[in-house]
Amino acid sequence: MPGLGDSLDASHQYLCRADEVGPSELRRFKFGKVQIVLINTGQGYVALRDSCPHQGAPLSGGILLGTMLPSDVGVRNYGREGEILRCPWHSWEFDIWTGRSLHDPGRMRVKRYAVSVIGEDIYVATGNKSGLADGTAGLPSSTD
Ligand code: FES
Repeated sequence: MPGLGDSLDASHQYLCRADEVGPSELRRFKFGKVQIVLINTGQGYVALRDSCPHQGAPLSGGILLGTMLPSDVGVRNYGREGEILRCPWHSWEFDIWTGRSLHDPGRMRVKRYAVSVIGEDIYVATGNKSGLADGTAGLPSSTD
């Protein structure tokens, strides 16, 4: 494992080298009981908890796609290709930039982790110096 960069502390976990995750690829990482899915968006990296807030499916088994955008009556406007993650079990969809579900963004979201790329190495901020704790800051991660 590479050393931590000057701007990182012990709450950051090394994931992999940047060239190990291709564009639009989903890659699963596991640290104890916590799983993370790392997404190479082609414009940067996003890390989400690899567990759907509905029934716990591994989101790393999902697919990236776009969605229908607001438009005039009778007009179909598809966009945001690669920014929506569809769960493999029941097809709930999540905005990868916010973690919020498309159908209930105010109540349902997937936890996001801040990603840092130092040189060629990717780190994720756990927010907890003891490791990847299940932080709950912000919105609830499920309706339970
Ligand atoms: S477990 Fe993800 S939509 Fe049901």
